[in-house]
Amino acid sequence: MRYIIACLAAAAVAAFALTHAGSAGAAPVAPDGKAIFATKCSACHQATGLGNGPYPPLAGNPDVNGSDTAALIATVLHGRSGPITILGHAYSGNMPAWRDQLTNAEIAAVLTYVRSAWTNKSPAVSEDQVAAAARPVALSGADLFVAKCATCHQANGQGTAAYPPLAGNADVTLADPKSIIATIVNGRTGPLTVASASFNGKMPAWKGQLSNADIAAVATYVRGAWSNKAAGVTEQQVASAGPVVLSAVGMSVYGNKCAACHQASGKGGGGGLFPALAGDAHVNAVDPTPILGTIEHGKNVMPAWKGQLSAADIAAVATYIRSAWGNKGGPVSESDVAAIK
Ligand code: HEC
Ligand code: HEC
Ligand code: HEC
Repeated sequence: MRYIIACLAAAAVAAFALTHAGSAGAAPVAPDGKAIFATKCSACHQATGLGNGPYPPLAGNPDVNGSDTAALIATVLHGRSGPITILGHAYSGNMPAWRDQLTNAEIAAVLTYVRSAWTNKSPAVSEDQVAAAARPVALSGADLFVAKCATCHQANGQGTAAYPPLAGNADVTLADPKSIIATIVNGRTGPLTVASASFNGKMPAWKGQLSNADIAAVATYVRGAWSNKAAGVTEQQVASAGPVVLSAVGMSVYGNKCAACHQASGKGGGGGLFPALAGDAHVNAVDPTPILGTIEHGKNVMPAWKGQLSAADIAAVATYIRSAWGNKGGPVSESDVAAIK
C-alpha cells in the first residue's frame, strides 16, 4: 500500500513536471510586477519608489494607495500630463501611456506591486479591473460622470442628503436597464426612496445634452462603478429607449472649432465659400464615411482635424452636425471614426 501511494505520488510529480515543462511559454504564468517595474518604471520613479526631480514618488503617494483605483489604472493605461500636486510638491510632466506595451495582466501586476512595495500597503489590482478600465466606453463613462453627475451624486457615488446615492442603489443595478436609461434621458422629479432615505428633488434631463453613446457610457459606468456589478448598457438599448439625442460634447466642439466658418446656424457663410451643413446631402447621408473623411483629412479650405481632435470628439461633432438644424443623419460612433483610413 505504501508502495502504491509512493508510486502514485511519484507519478503525480512526474505528471506535474511534464505538464509544466510541456506548456512552457504557453501557460498563463502570472506576470512579475516587480520585474515590470524595474524595466518599465524605475528609470523615472526610481527603484525606491521615491521619484526624482520631475518624476513623482509612488511610495507613500495617496493617489496610488486609494481604495478607488479607477484614476490610478487610467493613469497607467492612458498616461497623463499636466499639473498635479503630490505630497505637497507640484509636478507637471509626461507619464507615458502603457496600454499598447503592457497587457492588462501586466498592468494589474505592476500596480499590485506598486501598491504593496516600499511603505505602501494597499490591496491588489485585478486584471478584470484593468480590462474594465481599458474599454473605451467605460473610460469615457467615468469622465462623463465626473463632468456631469459627480457635482450632485458625488465622485464616490454616495450622494448627499439632497441627492440619492447611486452606489449600492438597487434601482441602478436592476437587470433591465430601461428605468435608469429613462431617468438619465428624461430626468425625474418627485418622491424617491433609496435604501430607506427619502429624496424629493429634480434630476435634470440629459436628452439634447448627451448623445445616446454618452448616455450608454455613463449608464455603463454607474452600473459597474464602486460596489455596483450590473451589466453594461449599449447605445442600441439607449436608442430604442428614446429618440436620438444631440451631443453636448459635439455642440461645444462645433461652437469652438467649426462655427467660425459654417456658422452656429449651420447655414454656412463667406459668400458661399463655407458650405451649409444644415440640410446638406452628404451630412445627412446614411453612410457617414465621406464626411468623416472630410473632417479628418480636410478639403481645400476646410482644415484637417485629425490629430487636433480626438476620435471621440470627431464622433461627437459629426453626431451633432447630423442631428442639429433638422438634419437626420444617424449618430456616429468612435469606431466609425477609427475605421476612416
Ligand atoms: C519617462 C518617465 C516615466 C516612466 C517610464 C513612468 N512614469 Fe509614471 N509618471 C511620470 C510623470 C512625469 C508623472 C507625473 C505626470 C503629471 O505631471 O501629470 C507620472 C505619474 C505616475 C502616476 C500618477 C501618480 C499620481 O499621484 O497620480 C502613476 C501611478 C505612475 N506614474 C505609475 C507608473 C508606472 C506603474 C510606470 C511603469 C509601468 C510608470 N509610471 C512609468 C513619469 C514616468
Ligand atoms: C443637479 C443635480 C444632479 C445632477 C447633475 C445629476 N443628478 Fe441624478 N438625480 C438628482 C436628484 C435630485 C435625483 C432624485 C430625483 C427624485 O427625487 O425624484 C436623481 C436621481 C438619479 C437617478 C435615479 C436613482 C433612483 O434610485 O431611481 C439616477 C440613476 C441618476 N440620478 C443618475 C444620474 C446621472 C448618470 C447623472 C449624470 C449624467 C446625474 N444623475 C446627474 C440630481 C442630479
Ligand atoms: C476655416 C473654415 C472651416 C472650418 C473651421 C471648418 N470647416 Fe468644414 N468646410 C470648410 C470648407 C471651405 C468646406 C468645403 C470644402 C470643399 O469641398 O472644397 C468644408 C466642408 C465641410 C464638410 C463637407 C460638407 C459636404 O457636403 O461634403 C463637413 C462635413 C464639414 N466641413 C464639417 C466641419 C466640421 C465638423 C468642422 C469643425 C470640426 C469644420 N467643418 C470646420 C471650411 C471650414
